[in-house]
This record gives sequence, structure tokens and C-alpha cells, in this order.
Amino acid sequence: MDLGLKNRVALVAASSKGLGKAIARGFAEEGAKLVLCARGEETLKNTAKEIESATGAEILAMAVDVTQQDQVKRLVDQAISRFGRIDILVNNAGGPPAGAFLDHNPEVWEKSFHLTFMSTVYLCYAVIPHMQRQKWGRIITITSVTVKQPVDGLITSNALRSGVTGLTKTLANELAKDNILVNNVCPGYIQTDRFMEVMEARAKKQGSPIEEVIASIEKTIPLGRVGQPKEFADMVVFLASERANYITGTNIQIDGGVVKSLL
Ligand SMILES: NC(=O)c1ccc[n+]([C@@H]2O[C@H](COP(=O)([O-])OP(=O)(O)OC[C@H]3O[C@@H](n4cnc5c(N)ncnc54)[C@H](OP(=O)(O)O)[C@@H]3O)[C@@H](O)[C@H]2O)c1
Repeated sequence: MDLGLKNRVALVAASSKGLGKAIARGFAEEGAKLVLCARGEETLKNTAKEIESATGAEILAMAVDVTQQDQVKRLVDQAISRFGRIDILVNNAGGPPAGAFLDHNPEVWEKSFHLTFMSTVYLCYAVIPHMQRQKWGRIITITSVTVKQPVDGLITSNALRSGVTGLTKTLANELAKDNILVNNVCPGYIQTDRFMEVMEARAKKQGSPIEEVIASIEKTIPLGRVGQPKEFADMVVFLASERANYITGTNIQIDGGVVKSLL
């Protein structure tokens, strides 16, 4: 299937590791040009080099904290001056801290709000005018299965990602007239550093070895295993493609069947 992504410009936020990196690699394999960012410069540069040497993709990689509006704006300005357009925006950031309500304080909530919600707002404000000018755009936001089925011990994710879901559903309605499609992809349990962080927090709380915690999680997944980043990235690449021209306003989980609800 030709996905029609050759020479498209994809900005993948928070892309030095994990899901963002796998998504960036997926776009590069389809011939897209990349704009990558993360806070840690060394890992980011290594990721950019790795993708460039494997795929030959043209890449702009900048150390940027997506919770800082001025840095996000600078990234988008640089991308426009280098490539002239941004066709695809993948909203992504690190995960907010695991824990129950009484484990956190208002300061943790405020930081988590900036990381999970305001980063999406800043990226969208910076990129949407360019997509409107082009009359073509794809915005894909990485949320979580917590928006469909809240997960105990992840209260910040449960609460804040639902806000992101409301934001992006509304954007899908507002931007359809400009041929900008907006969708969310919801990871279940995907093998990344973030996944291990959440598992370690659970192991500590339960006083059990991490292997036992992961095995008990796998028992709740109909496919019987944790997912791989590429299995997640394939859906994001498809949603950004010409093959997904009639899909907007959705929340698609990639979770091996872990969500038990109908929708
Ligand atoms: N993996 C899962 O099973 C799963 C499940 C549900 C939801 N999610 C969510 O999906 C998102 C990605 O998860 P992941 O598993 O890929 O995490 P990961 O492996 O920890 O990677 C996170 C990436 O985000 C970057 N990042 C973090 N904070 C940033 C910031 N403020 N500005 C710019 N870049 C930032 C990190 O680089 P730097 O640290 O250098 O900035 C890194 O490149 C997270 O929000 C996570 O909670 C993941």
C-alpha cells in the first residue's frame, strides 16, 4: 500500500526514545522528512543519527522542552525555515508521575498539567496556522487507554488526558473545513522506559518483584503480552497517511485488547 507520505514533513514531539522514536522511524521509512525534539540533547542527536543512517531521512533535531511555549515556537519556526511546511504533528511528551490522589500535591498537578495538556496546546497553536495555509494537515495526539478505562495509581494521567481528549475532539470539528484531520491514539502497555517506570512504581508499592508485576499485567491483556513500540507506531503512520483521508475525531487504542469497554 502506498501511504503517500514521501516528502511530507512530520514533527514528532518527545521523540528521542520510546513511542515518539518509533513513530519518527516509521515516518522516515515512508520517505517523510522529520522534525524531532526532546529535552536531552545527546540521546536526541543519537536517535536522529540512527534514523538518518538507516533511512536517509532529512532531519531537524532540536533540544526543546514542550512545556515551554517559547521553545515550542522556536522549534516550529526553525522547521518552517528549513522545510517550508509542516504536514503532520504528533503531540507527545513524557508521562505524568504515577500515584494515587493523596500521593500528590497541587504542585505535582500543575507540572503534570503543563506536561500533558499545555504542551498539546502550545504545539497546536504553533503548527495549525501553517496547516491551514496548506489546506492539509494531520494532528495525532498520543494519550492513553486511561481515557477509556482509568487505571488505578495513575490519577494524573486519568484526569488530564481526558481533558486532552476533549480538546482534540473539538479541534477535529473546528479544523475539518481546512482539511486538517485530528485523531488520538491510546497506548495500553507498550515496552518503553515509561512502561518500566510505571511497573517499578507498582512493584515498590506492592512490595513484589517487577517481573511478577509485569506477569500479572500480561494476564489482563487478551493478547497475553506487552506491545512493542513499532506495533504502536504503525497506527500513527497510517493515520497520517493518504489512506486515512476520512478518519477524524477518533480515539483508537493500541492495547492488545486490554480495554474492556465497547467504545
Ligand atoms: N509506553 C506505554 O505503555 C504508555 C502507555 C500509556 C501512555 N503512554 C504515554 O505515552 C507518552 C510517551 O511514552 P513513552 O513510553 O514513549 O515514554 P519514554 O520512553 O519515557 O519516552 C519519553 C520521551 O519524551 C521525551 N520528553 C519527556 N518530557 C519531555 C518534555 N517536557 N519536552 C520534550 N520531550 C520530553 C523524552 O526525552 P527527554 O527526557 O530527554 O526530554 C523521551 O524522548 C507518555 O506521555 C506516556 O505516559 C505510554
